[in-house]
Amino acid sequence: MRILFAILLSAMTSLPRAAEPIVLKFSHVVAVGTPKGKAAQRFKELAEKYTGGAVRVEVYPDSSLYKDKEEFEALQLGAVQMIAPSLAKFSPLGIHSFEVFDLPFLFDNEAQLHRVTGGEVGHELLESLEVRGIKGLAFWDNGFKSFSANRPIRRPEDLRGLRMRIQSSRTLYEQMRALGAQPEVMAFSEVYQALKAGVVDGTENPHSNLYTQRMHEVQPYVTLSRHGYLGYAVLANLRFWESLPGGVRRQLARAMNEATAYANSIAAEENARAIERVRTSGMTEVIELGADERAAFRRALLPVHARMADLIGRDLIEDVYDAIDFKPQDN
Ligand code: LMR
Repeated sequence: MRILFAILLSAMTSLPRAAEPIVLKFSHVVAVGTPKGKAAQRFKELAEKYTGGAVRVEVYPDSSLYKDKEEFEALQLGAVQMIAPSLAKFSPLGIHSFEVFDLPFLFDNEAQLHRVTGGEVGHELLESLEVRGIKGLAFWDNGFKSFSANRPIRRPEDLRGLRMRIQSSRTLYEQMRALGAQPEVMAFSEVYQALKAGVVDGTENPHSNLYTQRMHEVQPYVTLSRHGYLGYAVLANLRFWESLPGGVRRQLARAMNEATAYANSIAAEENARAIERVRTSGMTEVIELGADERAAFRRALLPVHARMADLIGRDLIEDVYDAIDFKPQDN
């Protein structure tokens, strides 16, 4: 009996064991029900399917693993393999070129934006990250931002003196200064509490973020200003990406392409649905701007482009202007 058991044991231990899946941790800071949250989940499903289970993707939403700034450190150290920070959050890396997307009143619509993200400029921006040990994989849309505050915002002067939470972008800092507001850099995960406690008076975000973070419950006014855009770069740890077997990497790239198409196809609709929900909640007054009011914001904010030229890069800004036929003097 003992011999039989020994034979069985040796047979079992000599069986080839199924290879352990490669674990890919994907950290992000927004809710599951946002465009980025949904796209990350779609990427997980496709990546696991296309690699036949050779890769297991663990998505950590809602800052559950890391907050804004920590995410970059975790990515570079290899504690996570993927993140999808907003384009306004690269300054902790000492990179300001991505802030070109923060320039106010630059893009009118998603089609213009895609000419940049899908063109040479987008490609070069992603490639520029490799020296920092980061592989830029894709751009994902969120949408155009609205101001929200504890008082109604109809004209640029209405922001004067307000403490406005911003992401860690010098361009957004200058944008708020141009309106006479006091910018406060703060991690996304802390915004709701800060608004509720009155530590800050207002903020800016696309509607999907506003709604899923319940900011409308603590912000009595939202202004549909569309004064700027917020989107994402999906990033991987370069060493991890390059260490993947070629076939696995190809399948992950395929999953990423499809998740990107999905993200960009749902973002505008998700944001439209979110502002409808804010409206019907009855907790927040949604303010529409007339053409004159919007023009006043544009006049107040366009000088930010010139102010940021040295930091972002004059040539880069010109390249984006060319790609979308933007003529600052016409505005
Ligand atoms: C913010 O911090 O306001 C946004 O960047 C959050 C996000 O990732 O959409």
